[in-house]
Amino acid sequence: MSNLSIKATNDGSSTIYNEELDEHYHSIHGALQESLHVFIEMGLNYHVKHNENLQKLNILEIGFGTGLNCILTLIEHLKNEKIAVKYSAIEPFPLNSTSLKSLNFKLSNQHLNLFNKIHESNWEKENIILNNFNISKYNLKLKDFKTNSFYDLIYFDAFAPRKQPELWNLEVFNKLFNFTSINGTLVTYCAKGQVRRDLESAGFKVERLNGPPGKREMLRATKI
Ligand SMILES: C[S@@+](CC[C@H](N)C(=O)[O-])C[C@H]1O[C@@H](n2cnc3c(N)ncnc32)[C@H](O)[C@@H]1O
Repeated sequence: MSNLSIKATNDGSSTIYNEELDEHYHSIHGALQESLHVFIEMGLNYHVKHNENLQKLNILEIGFGTGLNCILTLIEHLKNEKIAVKYSAIEPFPLNSTSLKSLNFKLSNQHLNLFNKIHESNWEKENIILNNFNISKYNLKLKDFKTNSFYDLIYFDAFAPRKQPELWNLEVFNKLFNFTSINGTLVTYCAKGQVRRDLESAGFKVERLNGPPGKREMLRATKI
């Protein structure tokens, strides 16, 4: 963990800086506003709005990191607990509890308790966080992840392509396409042309959308 440090971003929320990769876990313009825009608004809320009468939602996050996308998904879920959420997350380098406790995501006490519960939950097994919200965390790399499940919503939150090119190529997107449900949605903060073309080659229909503050564009891919 010695190569990781906590940094404040421009909206007052925290991120983590990985010195070895010279890369932040979130946009330095605002971690919270980036996650809310890319994953919650353009991903979760879009998917729920365009798939009426959903009773369950299988979500997969690539790069669990601080768990920010997970707690924001849970907070959104609390507004309407009708949809049963199964949240799965892949993370080969889990953060230690000292780092996690130092993060500031501007959470209320109730939400902070849930955030802690998410992080204290066991790896490699399904944990009940709330009645209708379960989480399974997998301590492995995406290349080693195997599943028979189909995911309705994928949060693709790996480090940037120039830092981790092995996570942003056609082979990876073919793999993700295979376990995306029909009408399933994948969102990522990245809008690189090659990434868009590889997602399309894998079979997704891809949209370029406005990015969060400080970033021009992002991508949303749908399996139709
Ligand atoms: C851009 S950060 C995003 C973190 C997280 N979503 C958050 O909000 O804190 C990328 C994450 O991907 C993880 N990661 C690195 N290599 C990976 C791999 N091969 N497969 C899956 N995740 C990986 C990193 O450890 C890091 O936590």
